[in-house]
Amino acid sequence: AASVPLKNITNRYVGSAVAATYLASESDYRAVLTREFDNVTPENEMKWGTVEAVRGQYDWSGADAIVRYAQRTHKTVRGHTLVWHSQLPDWVAALPADELRGVLRDHITTEVKRYKGKIRAWDVVNEIFNEDGTRRDTVFRQKLGDGFVADVFRWAHAADPGAKLYLNDYNIEGVNPKSDAVYDLVKTLRRQGVPIDGVGIQGHLSIQYGFPGEYRANLARFARIGVETAVTEADVRIPTPPDPAKLATQASYFGQLWDGCHAVSRCVEFTTWGFTDRHSWVPDVFPGEGAACLFDENLHPKPAYYRLNP
Ligand code: G3I
Repeated sequence: AASVPLKNITNRYVGSAVAATYLASESDYRAVLTREFDNVTPENEMKWGTVEAVRGQYDWSGADAIVRYAQRTHKTVRGHTLVWHSQLPDWVAALPADELRGVLRDHITTEVKRYKGKIRAWDVVNEIFNEDGTRRDTVFRQKLGDGFVADVFRWAHAADPGAKLYLNDYNIEGVNPKSDAVYDLVKTLRRQGVPIDGVGIQGHLSIQYGFPGEYRANLARFARIGVETAVTEADVRIPTPPDPAKLATQASYFGQLWDGCHAVSRCVEFTTWGFTDRHSWVPDVFPGEGAACLFDENLHPKPAYYRLNP
């Protein structure tokens, strides 16, 4: 790797998603994470389906392990994620409307209080919009109405007033109908006094679709309404196998994401969704694509890494 770790060349938080199992079992994985990054985001360990798969039976083991690791290595933690339609336990989805509201409130209060003071920022709601900017039709919307979003931010704030609270989504890097909808909602929530501090721009890109248009203008418009932005889940997938040309394009995409965040004052964090091609969600979900991370399977830095840290 470069002589200076990535986390030391910038005044932004530089993070990666992390899986508790690999953190415990792979010392080379742990070593690169510890050296290069100063923020960690639990990849699955804080999701409702992980922490309370069965009603009333909590499993905090993975989340606790990651938070302990972060404290020991002086890293911040991005909590991910309190309210999401995916990885949602079946028992939650089956609740009648009147019960769901209280259960959702308890879930948020319990989880946020457990890690009070140890989470820099929470992804409070995740992926609530469709591509055309309409609201995604989740069980939360169906049973509680669109107002659930304001409620969950208020409950999270009450549980840990010190944590920054974010709305997080994908395909909102550029200016488009979905990011317009996020922008309008955040403006409205702020006007109503709802405690929302930031917008998480996931940054799941593919070299096949071009770099999103007006990325910097998009970050800048959020700054102008007084909210932070963070790149929360960056990765750039390529059709496998990788070759030098594809890796160069990947490096350029990572570089544009990184540079744009540094060009806008309120973009405070650059987090990648995993750091090694050894462990990535991409091949499972996009067959024929992969190699989306900054380090290869053997933890060697790729051209994208050297684009960020020359
Ligand atoms: O825990 C089970 C394990 O017991 C079983 O043996 C194994 C067999 O496939 O599955 C395991 O669960 C998987 C889980 O990851 C933990 O590895 C699920 O099947 C799998 O669906 C789940 O995928 C996660 C995905 O979110 C779920 O939608 C990915 O790891 C995770 O990277 C991904 O992360 C999301 C963000 O939270 C939100 N933004 C998009 C991003 C990528 O999809």
